[in-house]
Amino acid sequence: MTGEWLTRVARRAAPAAAIVMGLCVLLLTVDWMVAAVQAPKHDKLVAGLQKKVKSDASLAPRLAAEQKRITAGRIWRKRRDHVTGYVLLAAAIVFLASSKRVLAGRPRPVKAPEKPAPPAAAQAARAHRTPSAATPPALDLAFVDEAVARIGRGKEAAIPLLQAIQEHYRYLPDAALARVCELTEITPSQIAGASTFYGQFRRSPVGKHIVKVCHGTACHVAGARQVTDELRRSLGIGEGEDTDPARLFTIEEVACLGCCSLAPVLMVDGQTAGRLTPATAPAALDVAGEKEPA
Ligand code: FES
Repeated sequence: MTGEWLTRVARRAAPAAAIVMGLCVLLLTVDWMVAAVQAPKHDKLVAGLQKKVKSDASLAPRLAAEQKRITAGRIWRKRRDHVTGYVLLAAAIVFLASSKRVLAGRPRPVKAPEKPAPPAAAQAARAHRTPSAATPPALDLAFVDEAVARIGRGKEAAIPLLQAIQEHYRYLPDAALARVCELTEITPSQIAGASTFYGQFRRSPVGKHIVKVCHGTACHVAGARQVTDELRRSLGIGEGEDTDPARLFTIEEVACLGCCSLAPVLMVDGQTAGRLTPATAPAALDVAGEKEPA
């Protein structure tokens, strides 16, 4: 209640203080201009009388009177300016305090209500559509144990083990490689060297469908790059990635697929589609049974 009253008072005081400040500034300016105009005239008057007094002593009382009048005027103006200065200072303080109070009492913008969280079912559906964002399920490492027992524990078993793991999981999961190192004589550096040296091995999860886009000479000339770029764009595959966020499609650029007369060509899940253009290429992925990408 007191706060509202103070705000109301401040709303009236602020403009009044501003008017007083303006009047004070005007008065000081006028005084300064008057003094600037009168000072040379007064000096000239006094100098003239002083000159005449030297030859006519009867003018001495008039000179004294003029000097007294001019001095009194200057003292009065100086005192008035001092008072005006203090009033200006006080008005400025009142103005600043009132403005602050008025600003503090202004209604604050109402915050927009937060968007309600999507229903749990929608969140679950999204998580299903984008498994990369969800916590990956724990990997079943029973296959690794069985492969090690079948293929061997020596260093010479490194490549066959990697091939078996990739065939089973479709890539080389870190957990599976760590398990191999636990169970065999193969070291993590050997695993890392072999898995990165040979192009047949993948270290990241692969999509449900492999899309092989031919970049052989005939397909390259016929626009394989534009086809690949459009596929990546329509699937939302980011820079440096080869699999879409939903892990439905992995795009691979491969050498000649052997059907150059249909260039440019792609193969998805073993089915070939040819004479593609950037406009028709996304529809070619429909053969995989998934919804055509946007
Ligand atoms: S170059 Fe693409 S199929 Fe031969």
